[in-house]
Amino acid sequence: MTNKYIYFVANWKMYGNLSSLNTLDKVIKFSKSKEIKGGRLIYCPPYTLISSFSKKFKSCQIAIGGQNCHESEDYGAHTGYINSRMLKNIGAHFVIIGHSENRKKGESDKLINLKIKSALEAKLKVIFCIGETLSEKRNKKTHSVLSNQIKIGLKNIKNKSNIFLAYEPVWAIGSGLIPKSQDLFKIVEFIKSKFRDKTPKVLYGGSVNPNNITNIRKINNIDGYLIGGASQNAKKFIDIVKKTYS
Ligand code: PGA
Repeated sequence: MTNKYIYFVANWKMYGNLSSLNTLDKVIKFSKSKEIKGGRLIYCPPYTLISSFSKKFKSCQIAIGGQNCHESEDYGAHTGYINSRMLKNIGAHFVIIGHSENRKKGESDKLINLKIKSALEAKLKVIFCIGETLSEKRNKKTHSVLSNQIKIGLKNIKNKSNIFLAYEPVWAIGSGLIPKSQDLFKIVEFIKSKFRDKTPKVLYGGSVNPNNITNIRKINNIDGYLIGGASQNAKKFIDIVKKTYS
């Protein structure tokens, strides 16, 4: 049982439409109840729903985030993209950057670095995703991969107080697999050891669900969870929070 603040980030990916708004009522009610304890809820819906979520969450403490942004804070001729200022303007407080699904499509550490800078400039909090692939894990490269992602992703960023790290092993995302508890503890320690002065919050993401949270929450250096699949179901999302604090 813990009393500390724990962050529960719902990453809806490319799911959801206007009818999904009804499913939020349960979560809003839960967020206003005593059962929420130290849970901090953050929803990252697709861009199309950010404005509606923002209105819906007006009377409660649930924060909103985008799932990515363009690297330029300036408006410009970039068909199909959205920048950090636009996210902020429409009610977002957070943005996920560096998700492996975008890295897979060619987002480099350098580009991620630019995106993080632009998000911080727009006064958004950043959920910066890092993680190794299965073959990197098998080749014992986890530490070097994470070090590199952190080094380049956060290059020339002095004030890291608005950055949350999200450790998401690529092989754990959507697969039902999760790292062994002792491995996860050590990796989170390793990530935190990369920061000298103020240690950032470190979230874990990858197949978190109401069944495995009872074990994962025992790893006491983790500050929260980035939840994909299970977060689209209000009951499952609420159960994850409840079980974290039970
Ligand atoms: P998952 O996704 O919970 O469905 O594994 C997590 C994520 O991709 O952020």
